[in-house]
Amino acid sequence: MTIQWFPGHMAKARREVTEKLKLVDIIFELVDARIPISSRNPMMDQIVQQKPRLVLLNKEDMADPELTKAWIAYFEERGIKAISLNAQEGNGLHAIVKAAKEILKPKWDRMKAKGMNPRAIRAMIIGIPNVGKSTLINRLAKKNIAKTGNTPGVTKAQQWIKVGKELELLDTPGILWPKFEDQEVGYKLAVTGAIKDTIINLQDISVYALRYLEKNYPKVLKERYGLDEIPSDLVQLFDHIGMKRGSIRPGGEVDYDKTAELIIRDVRSVKLGRLTFDHPKDTNQ
Ligand code: G4P
Repeated sequence: MTIQWFPGHMAKARREVTEKLKLVDIIFELVDARIPISSRNPMMDQIVQQKPRLVLLNKEDMADPELTKAWIAYFEERGIKAISLNAQEGNGLHAIVKAAKEILKPKWDRMKAKGMNPRAIRAMIIGIPNVGKSTLINRLAKKNIAKTGNTPGVTKAQQWIKVGKELELLDTPGILWPKFEDQEVGYKLAVTGAIKDTIINLQDISVYALRYLEKNYPKVLKERYGLDEIPSDLVQLFDHIGMKRGSIRPGGEVDYDKTAELIIRDVRSVKLGRLTFDHPKDTNQ
């Protein structure tokens, strides 16, 4: 799904999220474990304000495990509980309920002290497109989503999905826009597939990926493309990869567009291993 974000759409998305916020006790902020900062909405803190929050680093199966640990520590140092998961496989789901209970314990204790019966925690998922919101909702719902609202004249009410006895989740996630202002963030969103039909040139994205790999994962780059040394000259690097992988035009020249596509596909399909493109040491947020 590709959404074109214009100021009107952003305002509407923000309004919708703000409305739903009133219904829940806690926000599950879903981010991509490969780009935990670049896949966050730039106005998240402002929009969510004081609402308790759990950061979920999804797609952990594609991210560098060491850096995922470092990111969890990063969020915790800032007072935000974070856990990693793989929504596609369903790993890490139990930890979500456990963490939500922990975060809300003070509030629940206060309710108990006032003599109120404990009720299920109400939560909603928020994130930018393609971080895995629907996948996670379907996983948590175990396909038990109640169907309503498709009859003409019936307004679609908010539906709650019961996740065990202790959690109720809004069936529709809050969708917010990614950051656009920063060009590097744009490259990271494109290379990980968060933006698919991208306006950024494919060759530019692949060059970004190669330079990032050269700096952060040189061994992986060398092994995948059979390089003894990584040539500093980009054309040489492309020629080598193109030749090696058979991206060649009928005349025998390397097809640079195809080679770029191949590199991006390799990154997105984990052929280059589990990679993370945001590093805690590079962020001052
Ligand atoms: P959204 O609602 O936030 O927009 O995201 P959605 O659930 O549609 O997920 C986007 C893509 O990410 C889906 O792939 C989904 O299968 C994949 N995905 C979600 N969670 C995980 C995860 O933990 N690990 C991995 N590896 N993939 C995950 P898709 O529809 O096939 O699209 P794509 O594969 O072409 O990107």
